[in-house]
Amino acid sequence: MRPVEAVLVGAGQRGREAFGAFALRHPHLLKFVAVAEPDEGRRQAFAQAHGIPPERQFRSWEELFASPPLAPLCVNATMDREHLPSTVAALEAGYHLFLEKPMAHTPEGCAAIVHAARQHRRIVQVCHPMRYSAFYAKAKELLSGGKVGTPLVITMTENVAYWHFAHSFVRGNWRRFDESGPLILTKTCHDMDLAVWLADAVPQRISSIGELRYFRPENAPAGAPERCLEGCPAETSCPFYAPTVYLGQHLEWPVSVISLDTSLEARRRALERGPYGRCVFRCDNDVVDHQVVAVEFSNGAMLNFTVGACTTYCYRSLRVLGSAGELHGHFERNELRIERFVQGLWPEIPTETHKVAAGQGAHGGGDWAVMRNALRLIREEDYAEADRSLQIALDGHLLAFAAEEARRKGEVIEFASYASRWNQAGHSGRT
Ligand SMILES: NC(=O)c1ccc[n+]([C@@H]2O[C@H](COP(=O)([O-])OP(=O)(O)OC[C@H]3O[C@@H](n4cnc5c(N)ncnc54)[C@H](O)[C@@H]3O)[C@@H](O)[C@H]2O)c1
Repeated sequence: MRPVEAVLVGAGQRGREAFGAFALRHPHLLKFVAVAEPDEGRRQAFAQAHGIPPERQFRSWEELFASPPLAPLCVNATMDREHLPSTVAALEAGYHLFLEKPMAHTPEGCAAIVHAARQHRRIVQVCHPMRYSAFYAKAKELLSGGKVGTPLVITMTENVAYWHFAHSFVRGNWRRFDESGPLILTKTCHDMDLAVWLADAVPQRISSIGELRYFRPENAPAGAPERCLEGCPAETSCPFYAPTVYLGQHLEWPVSVISLDTSLEARRRALERGPYGRCVFRCDNDVVDHQVVAVEFSNGAMLNFTVGACTTYCYRSLRVLGSAGELHGHFERNELRIERFVQGLWPEIPTETHKVAAGQGAHGGGDWAVMRNALRLIREEDYAEADRSLQIALDGHLLAFAAEEARRKGEVIEFASYASRWNQAGHSGRT
């Protein structure tokens, strides 16, 4: 089998460590033939790893898309606010897209991408890895197979873990609304996507509460300086003390994000000067650190979703109350359990446990599974399936934006009228 050829835009953490690594491990499936990246060190490192000649190394997506397409596929791993202009330009240039989430940082941007994909008849695979992981595929199969009867209430939690939250949403790329977007989009558009997909229905009414409660200046330890390395009195007790996070033996994500050069000296310099050395209580973050969302779907199912920064472990959980029993799932343990109602009072409940085998790649094997799916869609030119999947991704993104509007305004949002504000082509018609 000949590999699908692709250009990469954005050779940052995801471009390099998720998709670059996939291509190197699966040369028969994917081959990068060009790269666009403004950072010279990142561009050269990617070009060298993938054998890309100098004439196919570009400083930006703008430069790359000025020439005729160099491959059928563009993998877009730029940061959130670059997604809209770069994706529309890539579609206009004739590429199929593998697009990192969020599709775009505004609802109209997401709708515009779907519109452009349809207009140019191109495949856009949004990188929602969880949907393609063995765990959620099994959950979907159990629910569709009626194992718990009719799903009535879906409870999902996204436990970010205190250290991960501090890295990405207090010190890092997704800490500010004006630079990336709201947490419900930047972190949990995956969960909104999963909810729409698992409920197999369109959202109807949405409400939400949430705020930035903890990572604020008033919670800083007494006498804490701006940067951890400036002599913090809490250096032996604060769980966020940067040197204990970034100057240890672990060199992969999230440590690989702070400096391309992972020598101890370079990492220490990054903490002295860069964003990851800042006290987590004295950053310029403004995204919420806890949020709760409630949704009613068109088939009557309800969603109850919580995302939290202050969790010990990093995992997602799923619980579905059905008319005939319950489904319980723990994503990081790859474990699902079905409990079914039987006759009598306080009966012994029959349970069925499913341990799924996570594939290779991050997000329970989802990172690589979603890429495989995109390559299959392109190889088979399966536009119908690609469009169905893209519509679910759009509904999930619009649900995230609607939840944010509900949180900010303290109102219940009606999804149909909310979505029709952005969806140029009208609502999907899915009920
Ligand atoms: N699907 C997931 O589970 C998942 C997980 C993490 C991150 N993400 C998403 O992946 C995307 C990338 O995240 P990241 O952590 O790799 O960020 P990053 O900052 O490490 O990488 C982005 C890269 O884009 C480059 N870039 C900027 N302008 C460009 C231009 N004009 N042309 C080409 N490249 C340009 C930057 O120099 C940078 O190297 C984000 O949108 C993020 O939300 C998705």
